[in-house]
Amino acid sequence: MNTSKKHKILFVCLGNICRSPAAEGIFRTIVERNDAGDDFVIDSAGTYSGHRGDLPDRRMRRAAASRGYELTHRARPVEMGDFFDFDLIIAMDDSNFTDLMHMAPSVEASRKIRKMSAYFSGQSLDYVPDPYYMGADGFELVLDLLEDACRNLYDSIVLQAGA
Ligand code: 4NP
Repeated sequence: MNTSKKHKILFVCLGNICRSPAAEGIFRTIVERNDAGDDFVIDSAGTYSGHRGDLPDRRMRRAAASRGYELTHRARPVEMGDFFDFDLIIAMDDSNFTDLMHMAPSVEASRKIRKMSAYFSGQSLDYVPDPYYMGADGFELVLDLLEDACRNLYDSIVLQAGA
């Protein structure tokens, strides 16, 4: 039995139908490939509740599927309980970050909030752009950024846990 404490990660964007469910699916795949599913709780949510219950955007599902990720998350808004339940709450852009900081119920909770760009290998962007009003290239760019950041996030957690 695995008795070590689970790493609980919540990915957050605006609608929870493009960026954060893709981050969730990519990160889950990395965890499963490393046979570490028992060590993690992975979820995603949005700062806007208008897409509650929806599957990820069809364009994102299609782009993700072509890279081997099946996105089945149902959109939900961020809830106050998330600040207690998760260890890391990862915002896709500055607007998501600011909204989360305003929602955080305590200083301790606010310390859990990070920006996804903190895990980018490159320095060319410091946010994950919203692809909702972009063409197909926008979705591919988002997936490129998320694959890179998720790999680095996973490595940083494993490194810290082993330290
Ligand atoms: P997401 O993209 O925040 O990456 O899920 C969006 C999805 C929906 C909307 C905006 C961004 N919207 O305005 O409905």
